[in-house]
Amino acid sequence: MLSKIDIKRIRKKFPILNTIINNNKLIYFDNAATTQKPNKVINSIKNYYSNINSNVHRGAYYLSNRATEKMEFSREKIKSFINAKYSHEIIFTSGATESINLIANSISYLINKNDEIIIPYSEHHSNIIPWQILCKKKKALLKIIPIDYYGNLKFDYFKSIISNKTKLISLSHITNALGVINPINEIIYEAKKYNTLVLIDGSQAISHIPINIQKINPDFYVFSIHKMYGPTGIGVLYGKEEILNISPPYKYGGEMINKVTFKKATYANIPFKFEAGTPNIGGILSTIDAIKFIEKINIKNIKIYEDQIINYTIKLLSSIEGIKIYGKNENRSSIISFNIKNIHPFDIGKLLDNFGIAVRTGNHCAQPIMDFLSIPGTIRISFAIYNTFEEIYFFYKKILKIKKIF
Ligand SMILES: Cc1ncc(COP(=O)(O)O)c(C=O)c1O
Repeated sequence: MLSKIDIKRIRKKFPILNTIINNNKLIYFDNAATTQKPNKVINSIKNYYSNINSNVHRGAYYLSNRATEKMEFSREKIKSFINAKYSHEIIFTSGATESINLIANSISYLINKNDEIIIPYSEHHSNIIPWQILCKKKKALLKIIPIDYYGNLKFDYFKSIISNKTKLISLSHITNALGVINPINEIIYEAKKYNTLVLIDGSQAISHIPINIQKINPDFYVFSIHKMYGPTGIGVLYGKEEILNISPPYKYGGEMINKVTFKKATYANIPFKFEAGTPNIGGILSTIDAIKFIEKINIKNIKIYEDQIINYTIKLLSSIEGIKIYGKNENRSSIISFNIKNIHPFDIGKLLDNFGIAVRTGNHCAQPIMDFLSIPGTIRISFAIYNTFEEIYFFYKKILKIKKIF
């Protein structure tokens, strides 16, 4: 059964979708890298610089108060969107990458020699390197949860390595290279037995499935606004109040202080303690419109529609000889990674580009999983709410054509 969402109407909100490339309408299948932006988000940024521009939390004048109020409303909106308990648990960063780096630095005081941090094999580089560096600095051990050929975590192995030495587990909600949904509830359940902190990287989940922080109950949850129809340069770190309160800041400067003398400084309360310097105010304000866009359609409807799109794509691609699709269908969200026998993924990406189809090729910032699969990379198509069945059929026909060329 097809969902009742009016995709034609939704597409009209995205001016970039009218782009023509080599006489073909742009087909944008790289939404895992960044989604396109609706008019309301674009106009909100223009409106900020045209009518509100001023610095936040500083001035006693009209514009600054307005910018500050709207920024705090954006924080409130994010809090409600993910159902966090308090808005001061929402920290603005520059992206998921900075959110993870913030935690890796801020909680470093909890990590001692021979302690352990656990991550899965299938992570984005931004959820590998900060932990690698932290472990090196503290002479701690980075332990890796292996995966099977479908990209699923080996859960029994995870249970065998977690112990009282495990200070933190960090994993993606949905992997960016293969689109595998990780068993985060089960991981958090195990972690709590050992008092282990858990960070969930929700970058590939936030605009595709409903997120209920109080139900998931992680210690930290991070994501980037540009992957949810909002602007680049804004990220979110959700952190539990009690942990954020006792963790030291990660960046120092204006905005994050209480009292400063040449002898010492005391810090502001959360969230401001973690928000040194002037933020991307226009971007933060336009986040309100990105969330309103998702809310209007309803994230549950987005999931239903995107699952239909995924199933249709898998059906078509599976009918082509020589195609290898990675990951398992029952455990997939909005991303399909595949290869075609004897053709380099980059060549396929270039040829698809000639038809106006934007796909991602390469290792998707996840080199370890590519090494595990013994492949140089994949062709990754990733969907958003504005993608259509017609686009997928067009793409499928072009894949058949490319196969004939080789
Ligand atoms: C799972 C995952 N984590 C982290 C990131 C990093 O996001 P950003 O570059 O917006 O900081 C990405 C980006 O693709 C991602 O897919």
